Amino acid sequence: MSPSLTVRRIAADQGAVFRELRTASLREAPYAFGATLEDALSADAASFDATAADHAVSFTFTTFILYTEGHPAGLIEAYFDDSAARRAFVCELWVAPAVRHLRGGELLVDSAAAWLANEGATEIYAWVADANRNAMRFYEALGFGPTGEHRRVTRAPDQAESLLVRHVPTTSQVFQQ
Ligand SMILES: CC(C)(COP(=O)(O)OP(=O)(O)OC[C@H]1O[C@@H](n2cnc3c(N)ncnc32)[C@H](O)[C@@H]1OP(=O)(O)O)[C@@H](O)C(=O)NCCC(=O)NCCS
Repeated sequence: MSPSLTVRRIAADQGAVFRELRTASLREAPYAFGATLEDALSADAASFDATAADHAVSFTFTTFILYTEGHPAGLIEAYFDDSAARRAFVCELWVAPAVRHLRGGELLVDSAAAWLANEGATEIYAWVADANRNAMRFYEALGFGPTGEHRRVTRAPDQAESLLVRHVPTTSQVFQQ
């Protein structure tokens, strides 16, 4: 039987869970993220506590956590950048290998996108490394498309990443479905 998957916004006291998931993601999929495992391991526990406390209440950035049978099994971050356009992003998406292909990633993206839309976003952006073909196909399957914007990967300047976008359906589009 498939495990049941749920997603909840991070709580202020979940710094240790956040640290556990962040280090697990960087250990398992270092190719997918800008930061390195060393960055996460060298950061002190208080910085994760502070991030969790901020992300639990902020209107500008947050984290959602995926649970399988109540155990943390993935995460995603969502934020508005500080440009004039105040673009809305999802990032740092990771699902534990044991529960992949069960729609946990989709649940995380949809939860983060719903939060961003509720805070006023009409488009949701995601940077994806060109070499990360699985993530590219994943985001495409969820309705993200190319913006034509590219940049170098900071951690690996010989590699490129592309900016994808998904439009938030308007209320009338939702009722037409
Ligand atoms: C990308 C990732 C989050 C997908 O999570 P997941 O829970 O397995 O994805 P879902 O089950 O929600 O998949 C939804 C759809 O995306 C597509 N998809 C997911 N994984 C895919 C893969 N490896 N290859 C091709 N398509 C894929 C499929 O269309 C899938 O629908 P289907 O199962 O009906 O075919 C997960 O593989 C992961 O954590 N990878 C490592 C970290 C990473 O690359 N993060 C993204 C950084 S940009």
